[in-house]
Amino acid sequence: EKGGYDHFMLKEIHEQPKAVKNTIREASEIKKIVQSFPKFNRICFVACGTSYHASLIGKYLFENLVGISTDVTLASEFEYSAETLDENTLVIVITQSGETADTLKALRLVNHKAKTLAIVNVVGSTVTREAEYVVYTRAGPEIGVAATKTYISQLTSIYLLAICMSGRMELLEKLESIPDHMESILENEDFIKKIACKYKDARDFFFIGRGFSYPTALEGALKLKEITYIHAEGYASGELKHGPLALIDDGVPVVAVVPPGKSHDKTLSNVEEVNARGARVIGLGSSKDEDLRSETRDMIEFDDGIDEIFSAVPYVIPLQLLSYYISVMKGIDPDKPKNLAKCVTVE
Ligand code: F6R
Repeated sequence: EKGGYDHFMLKEIHEQPKAVKNTIREASEIKKIVQSFPKFNRICFVACGTSYHASLIGKYLFENLVGISTDVTLASEFEYSAETLDENTLVIVITQSGETADTLKALRLVNHKAKTLAIVNVVGSTVTREAEYVVYTRAGPEIGVAATKTYISQLTSIYLLAICMSGRMELLEKLESIPDHMESILENEDFIKKIACKYKDARDFFFIGRGFSYPTALEGALKLKEITYIHAEGYASGELKHGPLALIDDGVPVVAVVPPGKSHDKTLSNVEEVNARGARVIGLGSSKDEDLRSETRDMIEFDDGIDEIFSAVPYVIPLQLLSYYISVMKGIDPDKPKNLAKCVTVE
């Protein structure tokens, strides 16, 4: 049932291009939902863990593409701030399982004060019965505790929603080209394995990125914590100088997510800062980015043509693989990390 892979997690990482393609097939369904929307002037995303990171991408996307004011709240914090909802607000809950207690509680708290839409992977789960609109991610069942293909599929659904709401249908073609970029990264797996071997004994890791790459940094850090038990921090690059730079010294691995685009030059200057303090920088960027290459110990290369707004999909894959291989090298079962459950049904 693991299809020849050692673990479900690795199998599920490899299923990601297919998960994106299958989720894109929901485009016409999503278009119909969007056509039935009243006019919204605000979007509130609510989710936990990895689904929260997908929501953060949603914020950048809806504000940039749709031009609608968007906030993101952790489901467990929602009850302390959900005071300003009204009928012009769309609350979007994102949950792979559709059963997460915090998310379900938040959905119930909305209680018809605003419209609700759920992005869910498990068909017929509780959340799908309680939200007004339901968008399905088509990742297929995910067995590994760490979310991988469901995260990628959540991002795909968010892109589809934003594309339909903005009417920028020409972007659909760009989204459709992303699975090919994902395949070429997966072909590069042995290289990530070598990097894992080199850094597996590090005590701390930092992940940095800006804009669309900030949630990727958070997700990279979360994956590493949960399946390798290594301390990891994900930071918006610009925040480094406001505190954590004090922790960067000789040999600390810093994974820098630096795709071409608006955020590139500023993140690159953050990379220079950590380099000057002796960090070992693992850079993720365009194969043509010689400036980044000269600042990194190890460079993970991507096709130069990937649009920044879609970069979160391919760029997270090496981070999933890095955590996976470090986990296996440490003798941990990545499918069943200690203290964690696939679905958290208590608040
Ligand atoms: C991390 C992970 C968790 C879940 C979180 C929300 O790899 O899997 O952080 O993302 O528990 O779960 P869902 O999406 O089912 O609500």
